[in-house]
Amino acid sequence: MSHSTISLNKAARLRGEMTVPGDKSISHRAVMFGSLAEGTTEITNFLQGADCLSTIDCFRKMGIEIENTPERILIRGRGLHGLSAPSSILDTGNSGTTTRLISGILAAQPFETTLTGDASIQKRPMRRIIEPLSMMGADIASVNGNDCAPLHIAGGKLHGIHYHSKIASAQVKSAILLAGLYADGTTGVTEPALSRNHTEIMLRCFGADVTSEGLTASVRPNPTLRGQKIVVPGDISSAAFFIAAALIVPGAELLIRDVGINPTRDGILRVAKAMGGDITCLHVRNDGEPTADLLVRHSALHGVTIEGGIIPTLIDELPVINIMAACAEGTTVIRNAEDLRAKESNRIDVMAEYLRAMGCDITPTPDGMIIAGGRPLHGTLIDPHMDHRIAMTFAIAALVAEGRTEIADGEIVNVSYPHFYEELARLTR
Ligand code: S3P
Repeated sequence: MSHSTISLNKAARLRGEMTVPGDKSISHRAVMFGSLAEGTTEITNFLQGADCLSTIDCFRKMGIEIENTPERILIRGRGLHGLSAPSSILDTGNSGTTTRLISGILAAQPFETTLTGDASIQKRPMRRIIEPLSMMGADIASVNGNDCAPLHIAGGKLHGIHYHSKIASAQVKSAILLAGLYADGTTGVTEPALSRNHTEIMLRCFGADVTSEGLTASVRPNPTLRGQKIVVPGDISSAAFFIAAALIVPGAELLIRDVGINPTRDGILRVAKAMGGDITCLHVRNDGEPTADLLVRHSALHGVTIEGGIIPTLIDELPVINIMAACAEGTTVIRNAEDLRAKESNRIDVMAEYLRAMGCDITPTPDGMIIAGGRPLHGTLIDPHMDHRIAMTFAIAALVAEGRTEIADGEIVNVSYPHFYEELARLTR
């Protein structure tokens, strides 16, 4: 892979209409559940990003026929017990969602697998899934004994458990619920705060018996999953970069169409409004996953405190919320977000390092950051640390920074947003 450096300058304007690529979380799940269903699943507006392509690749290696054309994905599902042993290691690339969710499925298969991913994945914590899956009776181990990938999984009989998770993580919750499809009784997960609920919504749609009550989700085993037609909404986590851009670039006005606004994902909208952001949700509709068109206008922002139950609903957006905070009057405090340290990069330390290099007053804390906004930013060279969202976050900071901002390894954005820079260029032209 080439390692291209992207150069960006301050934007004189930002205006127009756009759509964003399909939701990453929903795209992954559609491929996984379609593979475990009987009959054909058709997915449109699928995210053709590297992470979701890793999920397709893993299921193809387990014998599932998946046709990928620009218009749609077609999956010939083979049922809950239809996967076959892969002939090689499963490569999950940069994708935490692939690694953790697939582990829940592999834990129950009558064959052994080894899975691993890139250098970033091999540093991310897997104890959070190893522990509950082991409690269910799975034979799952970190090959190097460091609680990270590569993971070796020898599938087998699983028991239903009720797991009280210490972290609000949809990846952990989903791994357990997916293993629960194969268990000998009901499996439940209770979280400290509600994480994204796409697994619950979509599994139900495929025919599984899933219940959600407050902070607990449960699944009964052995459903017959049936192939579905899935239209993936636009990813609010990708829209977030353009929402932030429209809020901070003077005179900006942007209409972002067909964005998923599931309440377990919409924290960015609530925080942006609390900061004084002018955002209107138009044409709200609900086909299982709620979607809307978002009209965003440049706004004078002010600092806020972001903590508690809202954190899981904007966890992936916190890097770009940092840029909004840097442009706001007053102080923004972010707490209870320690899991930012366990993402594609350590997002607390990386944000602090480069925002400071751009002239921002930011103090990292163990579980978040404190940003005293309002100082002018200036361009610098950013190393995104194999983290697509860090690269895109600083591309947005560049729009209001004096001088040139350079992003090394800029193509890392392909993980979740191919054509990101082209869209940014088009709207700022
Ligand atoms: C995801 C869950 C979140 C999120 C990630 C996608 C998912 O991770 O950060 O980008 O699709 O379930 P955690 O479960 O680790 O919080």
